[in-house]
Amino acid sequence: MNYIFVDEKRFELKDIPQDTPILWVLRDYLDLTGTKFGCGVGMCGACTVLLDNQAIRSCSTPISKAYGKKITTIENKEDKELNALRIQWREHDVAQCGYCQSGQLVNAAGLLKSNSKPSKDEIISAMDGNICRCGTYNKILTAISSVSK
Ligand code: FES
Repeated sequence: MNYIFVDEKRFELKDIPQDTPILWVLRDYLDLTGTKFGCGVGMCGACTVLLDNQAIRSCSTPISKAYGKKITTIENKEDKELNALRIQWREHDVAQCGYCQSGQLVNAAGLLKSNSKPSKDEIISAMDGNICRCGTYNKILTAISSVSK
């Protein structure tokens, strides 16, 4: 039996083909719909989750890569970095339409786990692949910078 840990809970995976993208396991099998589908080809970042604390594109990563590992999604209420980011996201009124924001937040949390005080350039570089059609990039930069002060 294969299993994964999602947001601190253990899930056994029955009858799920091993090439199913993590995104669809989260959304369709586990009913965790906070992680969003954007492009489906690894280009937009809307589907970002952490796999053992590393940001990945869940739309283009098969579930077999997550067997026995820890997935962190936007629905994690206990994650220290995500909670600190949520406060600053509200403080700086970051979201507009909001669609990309779960991926933005999770990607930012992954950055802060590996580098708790990133420079402006490091934030810009780490967040580079997460697309926001509303153009909230400056607010995202401000919010992440505020967490890492
Ligand atoms: Fe996965 Fe766009 S939906 S990167």
